[in-house]
Amino acid sequence: MIFWFSGTGNSRYVAEKLARRLNEHLVAVAEAIYDKKFDYTLQPGETLGFVFPTYSWGPAPVVLRLIKELEVAGVTPATYCYMVTTCGDDVGRSVDIFAKALRKRGITLQGAFSVQMPNNYICMKGFDTDDQPVMRRKLLAAPERIESVAMRIAEHRCTTDVVTGKWPGVKSHIIRPWFKRYAMSDKPFKTDAALCTRCGKCVDVCPMHNIKLADEGPQWQGQCAMCLACVHHCPVRAIQYGKQTQDKGRYYFKKTN
Ligand SMILES: Cc1cc2nc3c(=O)[nH]c(=O)nc-3n(C[C@H](O)[C@H](O)[C@H](O)COP(=O)(O)O)c2cc1C
Ligand code: SF4
Ligand code: SF4
Repeated sequence: MIFWFSGTGNSRYVAEKLARRLNEHLVAVAEAIYDKKFDYTLQPGETLGFVFPTYSWGPAPVVLRLIKELEVAGVTPATYCYMVTTCGDDVGRSVDIFAKALRKRGITLQGAFSVQMPNNYICMKGFDTDDQPVMRRKLLAAPERIESVAMRIAEHRCTTDVVTGKWPGVKSHIIRPWFKRYAMSDKPFKTDAALCTRCGKCVDVCPMHNIKLADEGPQWQGQCAMCLACVHHCPVRAIQYGKQTQDKGRYYFKKTN
């Protein structure tokens, strides 16, 4: 069983590839939360996986929210549990944060992997999408990396193989709490009414069902996961987050990438 969350498609791509390779079935974290479906059952010998993006050097908070409520019957001390986090660059102390959240639910994390994918964070000064060569390099390297991760999951390897990056403690334990508090609200989202065609794409791509289309355009409802799918998918770049996204790139994973 693989629980997955994704905004712009990178983690979804990784989760789907792993599910096909390992013959596992997928559970969408956002739908589980929306439907309030927190009870699951593992078959004997089945593994428990989580695939999600790194947000501010930790697991996407929406996944931690699910774990707080999650009840998985059939988990035993022998159950192999793993996480795979996609990131633009590095994941800081994501593994420790995730392992702690699972431990509180009586589950032991055994495998932890990161997969570098194109960056989608554009909301602050100094952060932008990757330029084309970097994006291409990451996308070309991804299938081999995912296969290497899949092999180790199939062998139930107890291992951590992530790009931690520099200053992981500062990033994950000092910057991240600030980020979660002040940089994850959906209040700064704005739409340029002159550009918006009211096509409804932003509504369709929001995994959290957090956008309603009113006469004035999209309205954010306060249940945002900060995945930025709405910003990146808007075909006419009508959505901005505060003042920093106007001149930034846009990215989402395409099957043809
Ligand atoms: C709110 C937010 C915070 C992010 N923080 C990090 C980070 O700390 N480190 C990193 O390498 N990438 C970071 N990223 C980039 C994403 O982790 C990366 O692009 C990921 O593959 C996106 O996955 P998705 O396409 O499945 O949504 C962040 C993205 C967002 C939206
Ligand atoms: S995706 Fe863009 S153009 Fe379409 S409704 Fe949303 S904001 Fe408007
Ligand atoms: S409102 Fe936008 S950023 Fe927030 S969860 Fe929905 S798509 Fe993601």
